[in-house]
Order: sequence, then C-alpha cells, then structure tokens
Amino acid sequence: MTQSSSTQQVPVVSAVPNHIAIIMDGNGRWATKRFLPRVAGHAKGVEAVRNIVEACIERGVEFLTLFAFSSENWRRPADEVSLLMRLFITALDREVSRMHANGIRLKVVGDLSRFDAKLQSMIAQAERKTAANKRLTVTICANYGGRWDVMQGVNKMVALHPDATAFSEDQLTPHLSMAYAPEPDLFIRTGGEQRISNFLLWQLAYTELYFTETFWPDFDLNKLDDAIASYQQRERRFGRTSEQLLEPKIQT
Ligand code: IPE
Ligand code: IPE
Ligand code: MG
Repeated sequence: MTQSSSTQQVPVVSAVPNHIAIIMDGNGRWATKRFLPRVAGHAKGVEAVRNIVEACIERGVEFLTLFAFSSENWRRPADEVSLLMRLFITALDREVSRMHANGIRLKVVGDLSRFDAKLQSMIAQAERKTAANKRLTVTICANYGGRWDVMQGVNKMVALHPDATAFSEDQLTPHLSMAYAPEPDLFIRTGGEQRISNFLLWQLAYTELYFTETFWPDFDLNKLDDAIASYQQRERRFGRTSEQLLEPKIQT
C-alpha cells in the first residue's frame, strides 16, 4: 500500500502519534558519566528499547522507528563498531521471539550489504518470522542515512523508467526504504543534541520535533509520555492557518 504524502494531501492527525521516530542518542555519555566503558551505555540502551517498545504497544502507537546505527557511525573506533554489531546480533537473538509473541512486526532498513552474512541472514529471518504481525511495526535503522535512502530510491525509480527526464514525488516514494509506513508524526532525539544527523530526511517533512537532554538509557515511560504530551500541545497546520483548522470542510 502506498502511504499518503504530507506535501500532497493534508494527513489525518490523531491524539496519539501513529508513528514515532527516535534518535536514541547519549549512550556513550551515560556510561562515561558513570566511569563505565561506552559499550555499557549501549547495552543499557537495549533495555530502554525493550521498555519503549512495550509502552508504544500500550499507548496504541502503530509504528516505532529507531535509529540504531547511522551510515556515518562507521567513523567510530573499530572496537566500538564491532561491539555494536555484536550487541545487535545478541539483541536480535534474544528479542525476536518475544517480539513475535507480542504481535510485533520487525523491519530493519538501511544499507545492509555492509553487514556480515550472518547478521544479514538473521535480519532476513526475523523479518520473515514477524511479517504478518499487526500490533506494532518496529523499524530499526541500521547503516541508515537519509541521503542514502533518497539516492537508493532515485536509482530504483530511474532504473524503472530509463527514458524519463522528469519525475514526480509519487514515483519516488514507493522506492524509499520505509514506503510501508506513514510519515512520522513525532520525532524524538534524546541526549541533548538538536540535529537530525542524516536520519529520515524526506519523511520528516512535517513531523513534530521533540528534543530532550535525557540520555537514551534513562529514557523511560514517563519521558515518553512527556514527549507525547508535548506533541499533543502542537497545532499541526501543514501549511494552513489556525483559522482553517476550525473549519473542517475546507481542509484540503
Ligand atoms: C547513540 O549513542 C548510539 C549510537 C550512535 C550507536 P552514542 O554512542 O552516540 O552516545 P553519545 O552521543 O556518544 O553519548
Ligand atoms: C545519531 O547519533 C545516530 C544514532 C543514534 C544511531 P550520533 O551520535 O551518531 O550523531 P552525531 O554524530 O552526534 O550527530
Ligand atoms: Mg551520539
């Protein structure tokens, strides 16, 4: 199913964000503050993921997208990168059955070709196993970059229409890596930085942005509720005026 575009039609908005996208930042600083190695922060971060996933189910969120490893994170020291990969493998190993039992569909998006074969096959297996689940779709962005996403989409689109010289949005969006999901309603970045760091560049066009100083391992249900409460205060105009929002008939 092709999802509607916030720049083509005014989307339907509900009180609980239907799609939450999170940059889980601050694991390293969380650990350093406690005189622990950075990797201890990443391990603690996995626990936070588990809690937030469950909270999203309880709150009726349908899509949760988590930035786990960016296309630029390869620039980190080799030992941190390899520990992150190992952590990803153990987390998949441990969590997939529980996710499946909870009705979660798991998706992993990004340039997976750079991962080793074992990890790639674990990802494919996890996605296959959970493909029919409907309660919550959890997307892990791994070796993901917003620019990579747009470019891989453009390349697929051009390959399909080799003679075309101009394209429309509608021709591109089915090829973006998250074409199965609506655009995020709420973006959260933990860890205090106020930047997008090459996350979902295309998809965040009209997403409400929320930044918190809380480090990711400390991001709990109450912090999630704070973010949702902030979202509920926003007036999502999508280019219109406040007055127009009061007149549902002319909302097109
Ligand atoms: C986010 O935490 C996790 C990844 C990028 C893998 P960081 O590792 O970036 O933590 P800080 O920002 O250094 O504290
Ligand atoms: C963004 O965090 C990527 C993930 C959380 C996976 P970074 O810590 O890599 O971002 P920068 O480098 O501070 O922008
Ligand atoms: Mg960081």
